[in-house]
Amino acid sequence: MKFILRAAVFHFLVLYAVHVLGINIQSKPAFNDEGVIQVKLNDPVSLVCTLGVTKAEEELVWLRNDAAVLLKEGNNKNRSSLCVTPTYEDNGAKFTCHQKGNSTDQVSVTLNVTFAPNISETVEVTVEEEDDLVLECDTRANPLVSSVTWSLNGSLVDLLADGLSVINNGLTSQLTSSKVKKTLHGGMYTCTVDSPMYGSSSRHFQVTITDKTLKFPLGPMIAGLVVVGLTALLAVVSRWRKIVKCCK
Ligand SMILES: *[C@@H]1O[C@H](CO)[C@@H](O)[C@H](O)[C@H]1NC(C)=O
Ligand SMILES: *[C@@H]1O[C@H](CO)[C@@H](O)[C@H](O)[C@H]1NC(C)=O
Ligand SMILES: *[C@@H]1O[C@H](CO)[C@@H](O)[C@H](O)[C@H]1NC(C)=O
Ligand SMILES: *[C@@H]1O[C@H](CO)[C@@H](O)[C@H](O)[C@H]1NC(C)=O
Ligand SMILES: *[C@@H]1O[C@H](CO)[C@@H](O)[C@H](O)[C@H]1NC(C)=O
Repeated sequence: MKFILRAAVFHFLVLYAVHVLGINIQSKPAFNDEGVIQVKLNDPVSLVCTLGVTKAEEELVWLRNDAAVLLKEGNNKNRSSLCVTPTYEDNGAKFTCHQKGNSTDQVSVTLNVTFAPNISETVEVTVEEEDDLVLECDTRANPLVSSVTWSLNGSLVDLLADGLSVINNGLTSQLTSSKVKKTLHGGMYTCTVDSPMYGSSSRHFQVTITDKTLKFPLGPMIAGLVVVGLTALLAVVSRWRKIVKCCK
């Protein structure tokens, strides 16, 4: 009985030692059970990687999504700390720490960077009658926005009646109309984005539609210029030898 107890205690100690020998990450703010750190855009995160009891001094490395992080001199002996000021690109980034030259034992944490959609200012847009109108709202946010709506002079746009179309791709919401008409399409457009975390935000577009003006025929002129350019180039090529000789 005594022996069994001793064996059990010994076993426990061995397990504990293995755990202590291993690598640990501590973070502020702390990570959850899935190893995810919840943080707002630009709020600093501190990560500290430590090695348990070691016989000799050991070097540590940090990876950000499998790319090595450059560490300052001395910030890798037995213990290494990182300070991250999260940007949009750090959302979902995985930080891994392991011993240099041996990644058998490694630990990782992942950032979940929350941010609001960036759509606040008012823009003025002037379009000529019969030209295309394109209005765009940045709808990128974490957590994802719950809805995007477009209104014109305070009422929801009627896509069918107004000849408008809306495309949402998760990053932007684009309202377009080809061949705008003064009577139908001028006014104050508003794109309203709802976020489950940051509430509602809007961007306004003051759209003015001006009379159609005669456009200078750019097409034929460009073609003409291209022809002139090509001719000149051919002339240069055919005289290349001569020019080279002159230059010597
Ligand atoms: C790292 O740990 C080893 C073994 O415990 C120790 O000898 C060494 O001084 C430590 N180095 C630093 C920089 O703490
Ligand atoms: C790598 O680390 C693991 C766990 O710490 C250890 O068991 C293994 O012997 C090490 N391998 C080498 C080549 O040092
Ligand atoms: C927010 O949007 C404005 C205008 O579209 C842009 O100039 C600014 O850089 C954006 N801010 C961020 C943090 O992306
Ligand atoms: C990130 O945080 C948001 C807001 O709390 C949450 O809705 C989302 O599920 C989180 N994503 C992950 C991968 O943890
Ligand atoms: C929106 O309001 C402006 C200013 O009151 C007006 O000039 C414009 O015709 C209105 N647009 C539509 C489509 O009703």
